[in-house]
Amino acid sequence: MTANKETETKIFNPTTNEQEFLIRKCILDDIDEVIEVNERELPEDYPFFFYKSILDNFPECFLVAQNKLGKIVAYIMWRVEKAPSINSLKYINKAHLVSIAVSESYRRRGIATILLSNSMKAIKKYKIHEYVLEVRVSNYTAIRLYEKLDYKIENIKKNYYRDGENAYFMTLAV
Ligand code: ACO
Ligand code: ZN
Repeated sequence: MTANKETETKIFNPTTNEQEFLIRKCILDDIDEVIEVNERELPEDYPFFFYKSILDNFPECFLVAQNKLGKIVAYIMWRVEKAPSINSLKYINKAHLVSIAVSESYRRRGIATILLSNSMKAIKKYKIHEYVLEVRVSNYTAIRLYEKLDYKIENIKKNYYRDGENAYFMTLAV
């Protein structure tokens, strides 16, 4: 495995000074637990092979958080897409946030912020120009998280979700 400096972070409990979480790269054996977190926390579900193909193609930005017992409590995954650039005929790479979720009882401790910042650094090796994502217009919590990291709403994608809800398309220049 390659160096993990960018992707690994230990989170300590400020009162006891004990290590509480480890943020690290996802491995194949983690996928079943990642799926459990996804199915508990988000209505958008994906088949196993979808996670596996993301892991095969973009392993350095598929991260998980594990607790003291080694249980996976959060994940983030991205893919890189080629898109035509607005002002030239060239294609540019965009980092597309596929999914992020933190198990409910582990929220508001900074885990999502670290997952995002570590994976956003790691994905730069694909020479991306922009980070992009969609989020439900009702998902105030996630919108706040992205805004805190300087993402801006670029437009609304109507009827983006299967239940008809609209998405905000949010972007951040690299
Ligand atoms: N209310 C308001 N703002 C919030 C809340 C909340 N309940 N939770 C987080 N935020 C904002 C705050 O600005 C917070 O910073 P602060 O704590 O300094 O005020 C900031 O987000 C960062 O919070 P973290 O602790 O890093 O976030 P957390 O680990 O709790 O995870 C997440 C946030 C991922 C949105 C979590 O709530 C979750 O898993 N929700 C369900 C799944 C989901 O909605 N995922 C995103 C879908 S969109 C997509 O995947 C592309
Ligand atoms: Zn998307």
